[in-house]
Amino acid sequence: MSDTIAIFVAWPYANGDSHLGHIAGAYLPADIFARYHRLRGNRVLMVSGSDTHGTPITVRAKQAGISPREIYEHYHDRFLGDWQQLGITFDLFTHTDTANHHTIAQQIFRRLYDEEVMFLGMEKQLYDREAGQFLADRYVEGTCPHCGYAGARGDQCDHCGRTLDAVELIDPRSKLTGSRPEIRETEQFFIDLPAYEAELTDYVEGNEHWRPTVRNFVLGWLREGLQPRAMSRDISWGIPLPIEGYEEKVMYVWFEAVIGYISAAVEWAKNRGTPDEWEAWWKNPDARSYYFIGKDNTPFHTVLWGTELLGYDRSLNLPYDVPANEYLNLEGEKFSTSRNYAVWLPDFLERYDPDPLRYYLTAIAPETKDADFKWEEFVLRNNSELVAAWGNLVNRVLGFAYKRYDGIVPTPGDLDDADQALLSQIEQGFARVGELYERVRLRDALREALALVREVNGYLERKSPWKVFKSDPAAAGTTIFVAMRAIDSLKLMLAPVLPHSSQQIHDFFSYEGALFGTLQRRTVDEDGRPHAVVEYQTLAAERDGIDRWRPSELAPGTPFAQPEPLYKLFDESVVEQEKANLKAQLTAHADDE
Ligand code: MF3
Ligand code: ZN
Repeated sequence: MSDTIAIFVAWPYANGDSHLGHIAGAYLPADIFARYHRLRGNRVLMVSGSDTHGTPITVRAKQAGISPREIYEHYHDRFLGDWQQLGITFDLFTHTDTANHHTIAQQIFRRLYDEEVMFLGMEKQLYDREAGQFLADRYVEGTCPHCGYAGARGDQCDHCGRTLDAVELIDPRSKLTGSRPEIRETEQFFIDLPAYEAELTDYVEGNEHWRPTVRNFVLGWLREGLQPRAMSRDISWGIPLPIEGYEEKVMYVWFEAVIGYISAAVEWAKNRGTPDEWEAWWKNPDARSYYFIGKDNTPFHTVLWGTELLGYDRSLNLPYDVPANEYLNLEGEKFSTSRNYAVWLPDFLERYDPDPLRYYLTAIAPETKDADFKWEEFVLRNNSELVAAWGNLVNRVLGFAYKRYDGIVPTPGDLDDADQALLSQIEQGFARVGELYERVRLRDALREALALVREVNGYLERKSPWKVFKSDPAAAGTTIFVAMRAIDSLKLMLAPVLPHSSQQIHDFFSYEGALFGTLQRRTVDEDGRPHAVVEYQTLAAERDGIDRWRPSELAPGTPFAQPEPLYKLFDESVVEQEKANLKAQLTAHADDE
């Protein structure tokens, strides 16, 4: 029986390009996990979209002197290209400004209010007298009341991870005018988090498979006690409240963005002409949902989203796992959009292929602790692992076989102990590596697969078929046959991380068809206002639920193609060049300001 797996990925604010920190934190791990399950023949739905609301969008629009819509449309469009180039197999990547999303968010807001999960109350908010307006979230900075960090934002402290109310900040400063804002009261809609505290605690405690970093963080927060939080805002950009007399207010961006996990599933189902199909991932209690996010998103995906779901409809599944990642740094420092200290994905993909990036970011994945992207290490690991260990193995074996055995998989004689030992190691690898992918331990899955690559290299060194061939071509043929099967198997084990080069190997072996489907870009017109999306086109094997996660059955006598190099060796000079680029970028930006 195949499993039903929902893969929900953080909705990126469409106010700037994605950088490698975002990719390592959410998009790449989600895609690796999705591809693994696609190979298993499980029923996968991976959705996300651009987060088009909130102050990150309005601040950027103001800076650029254009409308919030123009900002999000620009970056949304670039995200679509990113996912296609990097191969992030979203079944649907949409955005939060569709009529579909507005309607569903309003339905949920309305029901929570009717059911008294939300209530009207007065809220103290910060008001900037100089600017003549209330200051939402990210327009305010100050000192965190929990940990004393001086650069906390109005909604969250990046240092200790707590969510905040702007009025709690010590020494608040307006980001609009730099002045000290005053406290004024306004009417807002509050969500009753305390009413769900006990239930959420049981739920999180019961989820022992969560990463300890994530589980302990959430439990710690629950033990401190929850407060009601305002879910409405007095700004003009956002989804209007569906409450008479309050249509001038909009929803808090986090309240509605998380609803995208439902609305995108609904949109996907509608686009396919099977409008109820989204329920397979949401209402079947056996379906498992995984939320791929960076750690700063954890509070919203556990406590807030959990409360919304429990309050709205108990037939909807709570998150099964929230494998939030720690941070990726860049050459020992934090990525910083405002300083332009980042490696931007579109720039990266202009210069390098996607698989070396996918490889390195998985090898250092920040699953348990912060990781550091270093150009030097990127070059080193590309050259010594991807090129020398894996790429050369494929090329050496297939190249030799192509030349000496006329492009036909040689027929083996009896397998000796060494041959059998290697093939059984590979076979066991499917279970071990598979289990690691399954448990979202992607870095370990890759490490195990690479250990097997090294086993094959060791086996070939001991057997040296290139020498043996001269005296005993049949014996060498047995070795080559065994190595070809091992490579064919490893291609599959590595495919979630290295889909593009695994496909190339698949093609060398002259298999028909592809390992994975393709990403199509399309304009959807379902709500009268067209919007661009990318959609994953599944394979027949995926639709039919065929489990392809098993050792190669490559048959003797099968013709195959002449291999070509899979990866490029990087020159050492790349390191200095890229570091210089980073610096130049910084300066250029400072000049702009
Ligand atoms: N836009 C948020 C960010 O970039 C993430 C939103 S995730 C969602 O940090 F689920 F709320 F959409
Ligand atoms: Zn703090």
